[in-house]
Amino acid sequence: MMPSPQDMKASLRCLLRGRRKAVSVLEAQKAALALRDVFLAHVTLPPRALVAAYSACGSEINPCPLIQELEARGHPLCLPCLPEDDSLLMFRSYALGDPLLMGAHSIPVPLAGAALVEPDVFLVPLVGFDRAGHRLGQGGGFYDRALAHARSLRPIKAIGLAYSVQEEPFLPLESHDRGLDSIVTEKDFFDSFYL
Ligand SMILES: Nc1ncnc2c1ncn2[C@@H]1O[C@H](COP(=O)(O)OP(=O)(O)O)[C@@H](O)[C@H]1O
Ligand SMILES: [Mg+2]
Repeated sequence: MMPSPQDMKASLRCLLRGRRKAVSVLEAQKAALALRDVFLAHVTLPPRALVAAYSACGSEINPCPLIQELEARGHPLCLPCLPEDDSLLMFRSYALGDPLLMGAHSIPVPLAGAALVEPDVFLVPLVGFDRAGHRLGQGGGFYDRALAHARSLRPIKAIGLAYSVQEEPFLPLESHDRGLDSIVTEKDFFDSFYL
């Protein structure tokens, strides 16, 4: 019997998390700087576009050097927060240096007083990607829901950030999966040809 997409996703998450964990601390630091440089060389954002960053969790690639530069170039930032019912990601305004508190799933989030905002550009962490712009997440479907919701309301850009070892030739897809407009790694830029 053919494995279901869910089963295929589960085994790919295992494989890809293993590859990501094998990146050394020194390699990770270099990759975060290289990711910033590849991004800035290939991506042009509208002036003042509101950028949703993320707090790197586990062995996700560190977006901090990139978001420092984006903030310095005049982009306001925000970070995702999960509501208590675990439904749709919300985004709260964030400036570098603002205090954060430990949110659900041990992810640092802005304080509850930080303004709720609607990002124009989503920097999206991921477990796996393919060159067509498909994304494998941690399994909660949070960015699938957030991107579907945002795209139903306004034009947005979703840009996946990843280590190059997170690439797979093809990812299993389900109808709820939402694609990325482009992907940036420490080595390459891929503009999605599928969306
Ligand atoms: N737009 C949506 N509406 C309702 N449920 C969704 C939506 N997008 C994703 N989900 C749910 O999220 C779950 C996890 O999705 P999956 O694609 O496996 O995770 P991830 O994208 O994090 O890798 C799915 O079982 C699906 O039911
Ligand atoms: Mg998905």
